[in-house]
Amino acid sequence: MFDFQGKNVVVIGGTSGINLGIACAFANQGANVAVASRSIEKVNAAVDTLKLSGESGKHIGVSFDVRDPEAVASGFARIEAEFGFIDVLVSGAAGNFPARAKDLSVNGFKSVMDIDLLGSFQVIKQAYPLLIKGIKERGEGASANVIQISAPQAYVPMALQVHVCAAKAGVDMLTRTLAIEWGVDGIRVNSIVPGPIAETEGFDRLAPSEGLKSMIAGSVPLKRNGQKQDIANAALFLASDMASYITGTILPVDGGWSLGGAGAAMDALAKHLPK
Ligand code: COA
Ligand code: NAP
Repeated sequence: MFDFQGKNVVVIGGTSGINLGIACAFANQGANVAVASRSIEKVNAAVDTLKLSGESGKHIGVSFDVRDPEAVASGFARIEAEFGFIDVLVSGAAGNFPARAKDLSVNGFKSVMDIDLLGSFQVIKQAYPLLIKGIKERGEGASANVIQISAPQAYVPMALQVHVCAAKAGVDMLTRTLAIEWGVDGIRVNSIVPGPIAETEGFDRLAPSEGLKSMIAGSVPLKRNGQKQDIANAALFLASDMASYITGTILPVDGGWSLGGAGAAMDALAKHLPK
């Protein structure tokens, strides 16, 4: 459906879950894909998975912590040596755990801010010269893409999530401000906001039982939890020419979940309305 043959795609935090699903989807459409995360074991396993997803592209992995500027620079130097430049950057590294604000240490708050918000700025800023290089190499009319993986916490306040809410709100404002600054360069910048996505670390941490998972599915207007492929499809679309006039958008892919409980609670009124 989409053709990313020969395109260079980098997925930060692309070694598991939603982001690995995105990386595999690009590989499956012919792209060369680089994934990055802290654990070298996860990086190697992800590269093996990518090779099964897309046989035509070149797939590599680099290991770094987005909180370490020198390590990020070495990672991008390796990516430049292998690919030359970047067409699509997906920034999705994140950390989350549920904690009451009164019990959360300042360092716990800071670690999520450092990974999700400062880490995103770090990788996007370091990728910028390689995105510009790509636009120049591709020639007249070329564009590049940054896709951030945000979360509903960016605009829905959630108990036990003060750190993630603050960090992801910042992530989406990065998207919107960079879209303004970099439009002139030909770089589109968008956020995808996944809803509750089955079989992921993030969902398991916030809904650690089957009962909680099905309760959440019931609160989604489309009455199911999402699949990794749902998010990958949105990433392919945003990076494609079909989205060539879309930038600075915060795109929920959540079955309507973030429309909110206040509106959903009005459903209860329905049974009191005259037939
Ligand atoms: N509840 C409360 N505080 C917690 C916590 C929890 N479950 N887990 C970690 N913290 C606090 C620690 O106590 C520490 O603060 P302190 O020094 O005041 O004690 C601080 O957070 C940093 O912990 P540390 O384990 O050193 O962080 P790390 O950098 O090794 O790991 C995390 C980062 C904590 C975000 C870790 O959960 C992680 O690596 N997550 C990645 C995977 C993930 O979250 N996936 C879902 C994505 S949505
Ligand atoms: P996941 O599998 O834990 O993915 C997180 C990825 O980030 C892993 O590859 C992890 O690998 C990497 N990472 C974590 N900290 C890092 C760091 N400091 N430096 C570099 N890489 C780091 O979780 P997921 O649930 O699929 O979440 C993926 C994204 O979707 C996140 O941005 C999350 O906020 C968002 N999201 C998820 C859901 C959901 O339902 N799961 C809902 C909304 C939003 P290493 O451990 O090897 O570093």
